[in-house]
Amino acid sequence: MTEAQKQNGRRIIVAIDGPAGAGKSTIARHLAERFGLLNLESGAMYRAFALKALRTGTSVGDGAALDALAQNTSIHLEPGKAGNSVFLDGEDVTALLRDAAVTEAASKVSVYPPIRARMVRLQQELGERGGVVMEGRDIGTVVFPKAEVKIFLDAAPEVRGLRRYEQMGQMGPAPVVVPAEEVVRELRLRDERDRNRADSPLKAADDAVILDSTNLTLEEVVNEAERIVKEKLTGL
Ligand code: DC
Repeated sequence: MTEAQKQNGRRIIVAIDGPAGAGKSTIARHLAERFGLLNLESGAMYRAFALKALRTGTSVGDGAALDALAQNTSIHLEPGKAGNSVFLDGEDVTALLRDAAVTEAASKVSVYPPIRARMVRLQQELGERGGVVMEGRDIGTVVFPKAEVKIFLDAAPEVRGLRRYEQMGQMGPAPVVVPAEEVVRELRLRDERDRNRADSPLKAADDAVILDSTNLTLEEVVNEAERIVKEKLTGL
């Protein structure tokens, strides 16, 4: 039995929650590799649904229309070594999900309870056998409240915004046209929406370990996250 397995045979669930740009994806990817877990990005599901709303011209402010649309939408997440592939109605849309319009729409569609309920159900199905690290906003509070390890990854908004800005610069040959202040501003808006929505707002679970990366290097955050998982595993 590996470290990532519990005594009763079910493999562990590691929940990583936190605001945008806190480094969840990087840490989740690292932990998945280190502990032999599948890495699942729950935000990619909201992004895929947002893409469907944009494509069909469905208003991201119309909860009833979005609910109807969701009933005719299939979203499937396929974990892989280089990240998740996301299938929308059978089409691989992975490459389209980081687009600014999709990012913005995902933040808006994710406030609606019926949409969340569907996504949560899909996420629970994906993780029910354990052996996963799932990142998002409500994994430790709603999706897997009994997850063996819960980490809430946080950082000051300016730091998260600047990290995002730098990432954008590294993404491709196209020059970054959005100024850094704009990236920070958009990130704050998305944060507010995540933290203030009525249904499953972004917050740390009572039993989550809070890891603030504001003044830490990536290596330090990775080491600390690894230490948290190991400590939890020895206590199981
Ligand atoms: O993590 P991300 O940036 O890919 O997430 C995209 C959007 O989805 C984000 O604006 C918040 C929402 N989201 C959510 O509400 N709950 C989750 N578990 C994951 C993401």
